[in-house]
Amino acid sequence: LLHQTTYLVDGELKEWKGETAKVYSTISSTETYKPTLLGTIPQLTETEAMEALNSSLTAYDKGQGLWPTMKVEDRIACMEKFVEQMKTKRDEVVKLLMWEIGKNLPDSEKEFDRTVEYIYDTIEDYKQIDRDSAKFEKNSGVYAHIRRGPLGAVLCLGPYNYPLNETFTLLIPALIMGNTVIFKPAKLGVLLISPLLEAFQNSFPKGVVNIIYGRGRVLASPIMKSGKITILALIGNSTAANALQAQHPKGNRLRLVLGLEAKNPAIVLPDANLDLAVDECIAGTLSFNGQRCTALKVLYVHESVVEEFNRRFAHKVDQLKFGNPWESGVSLTPLPEVEKPGFIQELIDDAVKKGAKIINKKGGETTENYIYPAVLYPVNKSMRVFEEEQFGPVVPIVPFSDIEEPLDDMAESNYGQQVSLFGKNVHTLSPLIDTLVNLVCRVNLNSSCQRGPDVYPFTGRKDSAFSTLSVHDALRSFSIRTFVASKDN
Ligand code: G3H
Repeated sequence: LLHQTTYLVDGELKEWKGETAKVYSTISSTETYKPTLLGTIPQLTETEAMEALNSSLTAYDKGQGLWPTMKVEDRIACMEKFVEQMKTKRDEVVKLLMWEIGKNLPDSEKEFDRTVEYIYDTIEDYKQIDRDSAKFEKNSGVYAHIRRGPLGAVLCLGPYNYPLNETFTLLIPALIMGNTVIFKPAKLGVLLISPLLEAFQNSFPKGVVNIIYGRGRVLASPIMKSGKITILALIGNSTAANALQAQHPKGNRLRLVLGLEAKNPAIVLPDANLDLAVDECIAGTLSFNGQRCTALKVLYVHESVVEEFNRRFAHKVDQLKFGNPWESGVSLTPLPEVEKPGFIQELIDDAVKKGAKIINKKGGETTENYIYPAVLYPVNKSMRVFEEEQFGPVVPIVPFSDIEEPLDDMAESNYGQQVSLFGKNVHTLSPLIDTLVNLVCRVNLNSSCQRGPDVYPFTGRKDSAFSTLSVHDALRSFSIRTFVASKDN
């Protein structure tokens, strides 16, 4: 059991003697299903939230603090110290990723390693920003020395499905640019931050990183209402993002870095390589049980190939192995959100009631903590699963006869992150790509949707995102361009 009894504020790991919350895993270590108690975390109150806010504001000191004014090489040294210490905690964090959110072993290891790589890439890109700022520009007789500087205190909230990696794609660029941070770990995937607390404490000056535990509405609301946060950095859902933004007295002028929902479609054209399309769509829809914002959440398949596609797709889904995350070859694992199987069942029931069939053998079968992927066909607009983000193991397949049908749906959709396009003929594909790039931000040719590699821009149109999170773009999102102008070089 891991009892997290401290929280990090003002450079100190403060002991918490008040209320705590139990952290359970939906993974059962026994044959008879019973949630496993993993540990406890503090349930801090508004007082500690304000302590964290004040600590971050004091460390920033209106831009005059030690951290925002620190030399580039010294800030890099702090970040390098952190990542070196973080690397020693790999086994503990990976184990907690498996237990807390049910991510399988290879994906948990990848999440850790990818985060380490992200930190090193961020450091390199930050060095490049610094090199660029050493150059002078001259326009209309005025020399300019342009630099990038920090903005203030950042409230940082990450998602449960990538509680380490995606949270750090906010935290790390915010920090290295000289901002100070208040970070509240996600509700699920919270204990895995514990092994890193001392590394945060040892590596950064006091008050630069503050880590608090508890309920979002108790901790984040007063911080937002204070109006003293300069950036809200959140990956999660738009309901939470909208509510938090609205609480800030100048919410419309708050800087937002948001990664939100998506309903990424795949479009399978008549000439697609079906084996490839099926394999990519399996990975796209069901990796980590479909709990990825980049997951394929609706498959449009041309009516001329849909029967064959469905046959191969359903067969492959039935072969996927279900089990505990550390077992070899397992791709389907228990769902960490206890309410998720019920929600998925509702989507299935609604679609079936309106005429869809479950076309795979075990589709919709349940265990105590899991619902097997249901492949639904034919799905149409009247069904909830057509539009609602399922974020779980259910796959809607929509037949189409004219390419205008999926294109119109995408244009109407509230989301606009990515699309996967499967086909061979270049003369068909290229005009389609020109249209698709204006509907989403990434077109994946003959491959499933995904975020990485992290150097590429990760963003979305409409309700899917606000700002961009690549290594390069994130450094810009968390900073501002300033310059010194002079008539002499
Ligand atoms: O949940 C959304 C993540 O950004 C997905 O990332 O495509 O690397 O799995 P991924």
